[in-house]
Amino acid sequence: MSFITSLRKMIGGYPGGWRQYARGYAGEETPPFVQPSTPDDRRTLIPAEGLREYWYPALPAKDVSAKKPVGLRLLNQELVFFKDAKGEVQALWDYCPHRGVYLSFGDCFFKGFLSCPYHGATFDGDGECVEFITEGPDSKMVGRLKARKFPTVTKKGLVFVWMGEGEPVPPEEDIPPEFFEGKETQVWTTFRYWHCNWMIALENTSDAHNAFWVHKNALRVMFSSRGWLGGRARTPLGYRSKLVNGKAVRVVNNADTANYYANPSTGKIPYKLYYPRVNGHWPLTSRRLAWVWAFQLWDRLTGNARGAAPQRQADPRMPEDWQGGSMRLPGMQRLIPLYTRWCVPVDKDMTRAVYIRFRRHGTRLGRLVESLRFRLFINFLNHFNFSDQDYDAMRTTRWQHPEYLSATDAHLVAERRLIAEFGRGIRRDVSVAAVTTAEAQVVEGHDELGVRWDDDYGQIRNGGGGEAAPVEIQGG
Ligand code: FES
Ligand SMILES: [Fe+2]
Repeated sequence: MSFITSLRKMIGGYPGGWRQYARGYAGEETPPFVQPSTPDDRRTLIPAEGLREYWYPALPAKDVSAKKPVGLRLLNQELVFFKDAKGEVQALWDYCPHRGVYLSFGDCFFKGFLSCPYHGATFDGDGECVEFITEGPDSKMVGRLKARKFPTVTKKGLVFVWMGEGEPVPPEEDIPPEFFEGKETQVWTTFRYWHCNWMIALENTSDAHNAFWVHKNALRVMFSSRGWLGGRARTPLGYRSKLVNGKAVRVVNNADTANYYANPSTGKIPYKLYYPRVNGHWPLTSRRLAWVWAFQLWDRLTGNARGAAPQRQADPRMPEDWQGGSMRLPGMQRLIPLYTRWCVPVDKDMTRAVYIRFRRHGTRLGRLVESLRFRLFINFLNHFNFSDQDYDAMRTTRWQHPEYLSATDAHLVAERRLIAEFGRGIRRDVSVAAVTTAEAQVVEGHDELGVRWDDDYGQIRNGGGGEAAPVEIQGG
């Protein structure tokens, strides 16, 4: 026993105290994810480890060397990536079919082939065992042993992998269109890890009320002319969503709901609101206003649209199910031109948040400037400073107990219905109520506010209704 261990034993956990396992686990760990199993909950149908019959982003091709394979877990499936004889990145199940060793602990001694670290079974990019080194060239394992292959495609330097059991669909079905554009389109990706289920992460973006509360101190919110609003203005009304091609749900109207507390004669949204039952205002102080005026002036002088109506034009090169302001199957939020946040399940308790940003520039100089902007500011501001506030706020969301939803959760209901009704390979062994209690609460919430919503969940059923222009979701 080392000196330190002996000392620890002697101290015996002194001075103890109730705080160490106050929640039943150490420190601030996220509680394990538990899926509901009741027919009164749409979430019962959504697979905890993700929808398998889709293409997913895996890793940057440049991170796979010709000599060393790379192990990566996606949808609770262990994969190994290596370069084949043509230099293309290929993926196999990270499991040697001989005795089950991790192939990712092996090596690519022969260019284009992956050798198992235990007995030297050596595989090509299709997973065929082409040599079994420890048995010599006469090995009978050659041609018999086969590792499971997962199809891959590399686009703009990012490797995508087909996770399904069935035949892969064309990659254009699942991979955002910017990856198929010419060299004028630059794409950047940022990987983050979140200790929570992929659905908890996915449901965070376009959550109608989190921006004002969660992101009030995000740098990009503070230093904008809309910073005094904190993001989407307070409102008891939810976004109106529309189903697009059975592949996305898109926010189609925000303005009339976000102006709920606007002064009817001036149209101005108040900075502070009074909450009579706690006899106090929120925000507690007005210090944010001290610097916002400068950004408002800047926006006015430069004609920046952020200062006025937060409307953005649709991207003319994208089909509607890839437009911004949407949740898109299998699990990404498209807030383009800000970012796409693709919540890729690692397993039921961990999400690999893959951020995708793209910009188009005809000139080299333009592309260089965009690259610098991304590296120096955008990446940190959006994908770290801003996003970690989301993570901190949402990671302890628990699914296993009933919810009490509000009118502001209308888009959330739409997202779940999209997945449960249109996701490829969704569970069909449980039948969930046509309208669950939580979904009915959303409609009731709107009814009580005297708002006719043509039935929020019916929006999804009927293929949507809103005719208003798509709008930017502030914050996310
Ligand atoms: S376990 Fe891989 S060669 Fe034996
Ligand atoms: Fe957020």
